[in-house]
Amino acid sequence: MRITVVGGGYVGLTTGVCFAHLGNQVMVVEKIKEKVELLRAGRSPIYEPGLEELLQENIRQKRIIFTTNLREGIEFSEVIFICVGTPQRPDGSADLSQVEEVARETAKLMTSYKLLVEKSTVPINTHRLIKKTVQRYIRDPNITYDVASNPEFLREGSAIEDFLKPDRIVVGVESQRAKEIFEELYKDFDCPIIYTDPATAELIKHASNSFLAMKISFINMIADLCEKAGADVKLVADGMGYDKRIGRAFLNAGIGYGGSCFPKDVKAFIRIAQDYGLDFGLLREVEKINQERPIKFVEKIKGILWSLRDKKLAVWGLSFKPNTDDIREAPSIKIVDLLVREGAKLSLYDPKAVENFKVLFPEGKQVSYARDMYEALDGASALLILTEWDEFQRANLKRVKELMELPIIVDGRNIFETEHVKSLGFEYYPVGR
Ligand code: UDX
Repeated sequence: MRITVVGGGYVGLTTGVCFAHLGNQVMVVEKIKEKVELLRAGRSPIYEPGLEELLQENIRQKRIIFTTNLREGIEFSEVIFICVGTPQRPDGSADLSQVEEVARETAKLMTSYKLLVEKSTVPINTHRLIKKTVQRYIRDPNITYDVASNPEFLREGSAIEDFLKPDRIVVGVESQRAKEIFEELYKDFDCPIIYTDPATAELIKHASNSFLAMKISFINMIADLCEKAGADVKLVADGMGYDKRIGRAFLNAGIGYGGSCFPKDVKAFIRIAQDYGLDFGLLREVEKINQERPIKFVEKIKGILWSLRDKKLAVWGLSFKPNTDDIREAPSIKIVDLLVREGAKLSLYDPKAVENFKVLFPEGKQVSYARDMYEALDGASALLILTEWDEFQRANLKRVKELMELPIIVDGRNIFETEHVKSLGFEYYPVGR
């Protein structure tokens, strides 16, 4: 099939490259000229495992092309995936101006049937606004079109796998013609495909992300309880997780969820409920628990080290989770900020996110960046683990201990086994254990 993807960001690029990989002809429309040039040269502007290789392979196979010109994109195919950004406004609602612009411009340019598909996370009933916009701006009222919702459930770090082997595909459509296009598009997938109306599909996306965020905040509360009561949150999660109704996934306690989706989506869902006159107090609590995680983590460090002024602390991990260079809403930002205010001297290390982090925290008197995880430890009073990168789990702990001034590890992600680390002579402070 021929497919147009509007927006060459995280979702658009993954969607475009994966559809091309499945044998479709894809055109990606991206406004920023420099980005298009980079993509044409086979370089991915974001770090996502496997994405660049797949991009290059599909450029070679002539299955994916890039343009800045929306008209070319509209002419290219009858299926237009809208993958533009929906950033958060100060009140928590989503800024849909880019979605509106794509709908408006598509309406003006289209000369035959089009299926407009929302892939970006959008508030419930955005499809109605898209439809209304197309209706308003369409040049020829005889041209037919459909608007559908096909939300993405991609996790950063495993986006390609999530796209190609999803747990389910959700498609919100209103016409048989649109449904048939999706049936053709997803015919090689062997997961459940759920066809709903567009509003339900939009809601499934928000409900899923909010539910996962709720699981994380729930287990984080249990972790606090475990710490006080002398219980082990990892085992509690295992014990709960074997119950098929609960499931073990997303029950890892830590310093809270970050990233471009959960914080924004939970806020937006609270806001959406409010707009419909409902108070989603449950989610407000989920958010509150999450916002307190970095503060509690720093309190814990203070409880262990007492005054932090001029103490050198090594920090391993800055990205909001492993296998990405993304630091959006990462708990590390709040934690580093609080530690700097306490007067600590920080030596930061992350395998991929350093350049992004430097923009927020340039090198200075209190903040420096290490070239590898061991360099960060030199003379440190404690090691703080903020992201569970694999290489940290494989660290040579004997060497770690030799490099540090005090053998103290405050682990925000529970990457080590307590007994093992303690047997090597460390003071070890995991979460909820
Ligand atoms: C998420 C959703 O999983 C995905 O379906 C959606 O489309 C976009 O948002 P992503 O933000 O890439 O994906 O990351 P995810 O792996 O879900 O993790 C989100 C955050 O939760 C991370 O900060 C992670 O560290 C944290 N987390 C996750 C926990 O603290 N504990 C867990 O058990 C799981």
